[in-house]
Amino acid sequence: MSITKESELIGMQEISEVVGTTLKLMKEYAKVGMSTKELDEYGGTLLKSYGAKSAPFETYGFPGYSCISVNEEAAHGIPSEKKILKEGDLINIDVSAELNGFWSDNGGSFVLGKDIHNHQPLVDASKNILHKAISNIRGGVKIADIGHLIETQAKKSGFKVIKNLAGHGVGRSLHEKPENILNYRVRTNRERFRKNTTVAVETFISTKSTIALELNDGWTLVGDKGGFVTQHEQTILITDGKPIILTESNGMWN
Ligand code: CO
Ligand code: CO
Repeated sequence: MSITKESELIGMQEISEVVGTTLKLMKEYAKVGMSTKELDEYGGTLLKSYGAKSAPFETYGFPGYSCISVNEEAAHGIPSEKKILKEGDLINIDVSAELNGFWSDNGGSFVLGKDIHNHQPLVDASKNILHKAISNIRGGVKIADIGHLIETQAKKSGFKVIKNLAGHGVGRSLHEKPENILNYRVRTNRERFRKNTTVAVETFISTKSTIALELNDGWTLVGDKGGFVTQHEQTILITDGKPIILTESNGMWN
């Protein structure tokens, strides 16, 4: 959305702090032996305590308050009593919600406990690439150029990007224009980031796959060639200089 007045900025700051804090607390709450359902219920309780509504649950009919994807699941993992977290699991939590008509979105991947499967390099690459991408966004920058940066950095780190998942505008709804902030360059896309707009930028860095496929449950995405995928996402306000990271309460880079 385009921020045209103070009240809109405050609205975006409030919901962004809520989803950021919820993501941070859920990550801290995750323990070996816990089901992803239990972790999701905790997140749902947090969102309610702030008066916010889970975007996937309320708007998309998703069977959970947040998306929790474990190991081979690339995104949109469904919280379940049967999915029990184990040492060294690669976990992604994505929290998006609405408050007073404003929407915000953030997510992050992390390794639970000891990194016995060596997922940390993939996690670190994704986190660092998002930081670099966001640092290069300002009003007037081509969306395709940021996609190119993300893909180039992923390759440099020895990884690939998922090509059919993307960041997006956010604010008055969860997904608005620009609709495709991709992790690679589409040469024909001449669209530019606009000053004073809010967007969710997200990485999808992978070890083997380049396409995310949906499973028969109608939600869960996995890589077309297997392997692992990490995602990090922040909702930002674009300015003339460095963007303002509205969801920084998630502590992603601390
Ligand atoms: Co998200
Ligand atoms: Co998003």
